[in-house]
Amino acid sequence: MRMRLKKHLDERLDDCAEFLLAREGDDFFTLTDEQKRGLSVDLATAFGNDNPIVLELGCGKGGWAIQTAQLHPEWNVVAVEKLSNVIVVACERAKAAGVQNVRFLNVRAENLAWWLPHGTAHLIALNFSCPFPKKTYANRRLTSKRFLQIYRLLLSEDGFISQKTDNKDFFEWSLQSYAENGYQTYDVCYDLPLSDSVVTEYEAKFRAQGLPIYATRAKAIW
Ligand SMILES: C[S@@+](CC[C@H](N)C(=O)[O-])C[C@H]1O[C@@H](n2cnc3c(N)ncnc32)[C@H](O)[C@@H]1O
Repeated sequence: MRMRLKKHLDERLDDCAEFLLAREGDDFFTLTDEQKRGLSVDLATAFGNDNPIVLELGCGKGGWAIQTAQLHPEWNVVAVEKLSNVIVVACERAKAAGVQNVRFLNVRAENLAWWLPHGTAHLIALNFSCPFPKKTYANRRLTSKRFLQIYRLLLSEDGFISQKTDNKDFFEWSLQSYAENGYQTYDVCYDLPLSDSVVTEYEAKFRAQGLPIYATRAKAIW
């Protein structure tokens, strides 16, 4: 049954391969650094232009990435998700909508510095990232030190991070992490108005429950 599910998933991913820039294999950790250097995706070739790059990390089923790409044809949106059975839905939706300026990367954010060119991200969007509330999992949070170090490599000089979450503890922990790791926060908001941005799948659920949305932006101090 597992084999059949995997075969079906592979077939679905093959059907929308033009939207999938890369998939991280189980063998990633066996690769040498030289082999990993060869993985870097040529975004100008993939999109056919040099438009500014917007990255979304942990894109889920791709609603934000697809809508943002549709609203901003002058941007190229690259959306990252580690789960293949989730990102396949995003690729299928992008294909059905015929969006030209969105692509997906089925990789772990931990390894992004190998997959993407450095110094090119105009915006890194962290939309409702998993809060990993257990202290022992703090380094899995996408705003922990090791990730902020990776974002510093990926961001362009005027690039910035935009974070939205429903989790106040994670939000405040993130604000501290930005400050401790050489980032300056601004537009810090404890109740983001609805009109301000494209709504993600998770955000729609939280807003329907009347929960406040916490948001901030952060810029690396060079
Ligand atoms: C809570 S969901 C939010 C999905 C979407 N951004 C939204 O707002 O509707 C978080 C997503 O991040 C993905 N994720 C968590 N850690 C990740 C990592 N290290 N690399 C890539 N994706 C990750 C999860 O698989 C999950 O799909």
